[in-house]
Amino acid sequence: MKEQISSRPFHYPRPGAPLSCGSVSLENLARKFGTPLYVYSGDQIAERLHLFQQALAGRDHLVCYAVKANSALAILKLLAGLDAGFDIVSGGELERVLAAAPEAVARVVFSGVGKTAAEIDLALKAGILEFNVESEAELELLAARARKLKTKARFALRVNPDVFADTHPYISTGLREHKFGIDIRRAPAIYKNAAGNRWLEAHGVSVHIGSQIRSAEPFGAAMERVSKLMRQLAREGIALKSVDAGGGLGIDYHTGVPTSRSAAVGWRGGNFDAAEKVREYAEALQSALGDFQGQLLIEPGRFLVAQAGALITRVLHVKRNGKKTFVITDAAMNDLIRPALYQAHHEIVPVRLRAGRPQLVDVVGPVCESGDFFARDRRLGGVEPGDLVALLDAGAYGMAQSSNYNTRLRPAEVLVEGAKARLIRRRETVADLLAPEMI
Ligand code: LLP
Repeated sequence: MKEQISSRPFHYPRPGAPLSCGSVSLENLARKFGTPLYVYSGDQIAERLHLFQQALAGRDHLVCYAVKANSALAILKLLAGLDAGFDIVSGGELERVLAAAPEAVARVVFSGVGKTAAEIDLALKAGILEFNVESEAELELLAARARKLKTKARFALRVNPDVFADTHPYISTGLREHKFGIDIRRAPAIYKNAAGNRWLEAHGVSVHIGSQIRSAEPFGAAMERVSKLMRQLAREGIALKSVDAGGGLGIDYHTGVPTSRSAAVGWRGGNFDAAEKVREYAEALQSALGDFQGQLLIEPGRFLVAQAGALITRVLHVKRNGKKTFVITDAAMNDLIRPALYQAHHEIVPVRLRAGRPQLVDVVGPVCESGDFFARDRRLGGVEPGDLVALLDAGAYGMAQSSNYNTRLRPAEVLVEGAKARLIRRRETVADLLAPEMI
């Protein structure tokens, strides 16, 4: 039973009951902690991690959660406790891992196209697993810093496999025209050159082709090319210990929440089978890897946390302008920027269902920009000022991409585990915001 609840944590437990996260009522959470409020199901995050670990059980592997998706310390701690590693892209993210789970530092990989000397030093001293290096200049800098600190830097070249992944252009990364990685054809020469440097250890190879990729096929195609590279390197005497397949496995943002009403109009949310998606993905990687004996790393972010999270917001006003109806919420683009930035779709559901016909509305925030919307021409069950609504699938790149635009205080965050809910980040105060400034 628990299994079922966590695989779809946001649900109406009984007809007439408010939307819940697991067994915890979102109405109660909103009353206690205020809105806008991010709520995450720790149970679902754990379940998703387990899906990857299970699918790769047959080989040496490490799931390195992409911290950028949601960097809440409590979530990092939860994942570290379940043997996850971490994919970081800044010194700040490393500090988060060190604060939440210092014991996991040997399971950290450091990605990113622009690491500074200070960030490299921090990671070298902390003893991370490997640096995913994105250019020859970065490799030189890494060697220089390792020499300075009299330590050896384990590196993987992030190669660009020139594989097309069908996703939003802002989050596609695997083509030669993108700023990411090193042309895979240049990689052998760089590995050979590095072999003569005593401050560098060629530990692995990495690849990341983009984000929100729904099919397993491009992951397999990229890994085929990486495998070929590894075979070539092995023939030349360079045996790599790890291969990092990156992140990017996508979710379905249209699943919503079943209600007796939505079931009657052909609700199709049940079609998204996370376990099946992970199996297909793992299978594509495994078959491309063949008999590679080293460690397989993966860097999922979104798949672990997106569907575990919702942004709960209160309706401030319902405003009619001619033919249009605007539902104005107390959350805005600064709290969840995905719709404005990527035209992303998030399902929006009332926390308490009302009788009456759904209406076509725009759901918008109070920020002074026309781009401040969560949905346009969306069919929403009747909502009134004071009602709560939930923006679903907001656990990834929601809070992590929030800002204080319009001097708005960022939301509080709550983690639900079993029947327990606890505050993992308090709401910001004006004093927090003004603290770094001087007049
Ligand atoms: N590894 C690397 C090197 C990455 O650049 C990323 C994401 C990941 C792993 C994790 O990808 P995921 O499994 O979460 O797809 N803000 C955008 C997504 C940006 C992704 C950036 N890189 C969004 O809200 O859709």
